[in-house]
Amino acid sequence: PYVIYTHPNGERKEVEIPLGQNLMLGATAHGIDGIHGDCGGAMSCATCHVIIDDAFAALLPAPDDTENQMLDFTAAPREANSRLSCQIVMSDVLDGIAVRVADSQV
Ligand code: FES
Repeated sequence: PYVIYTHPNGERKEVEIPLGQNLMLGATAHGIDGIHGDCGGAMSCATCHVIIDDAFAALLPAPDDTENQMLDFTAAPREANSRLSCQIVMSDVLDGIAVRVADSQV
């Protein structure tokens, strides 16, 4: 399955990531600029902020309380479809998911 990461400047990059891998690790493994993942996925840094494309946002489980709280501390303003990419785990239904990298992470 693949993910389409779109940078704030409009540049798009499509990368294959394995089922079960989260979208933060998928990004850092492929050198996607702008997703830092400083805490390694422990939901304590909020430097993996992405905005999910409308078509896929509804397919995701809602953020849990911790993610929801961390989303209030992102460097770029929170948007309706903002999520922490370390909490989005690739599955068959998410094949082709499109996410926009937040304008800044720090
Ligand atoms: Fe730190 Fe996602 S990697 S909150």
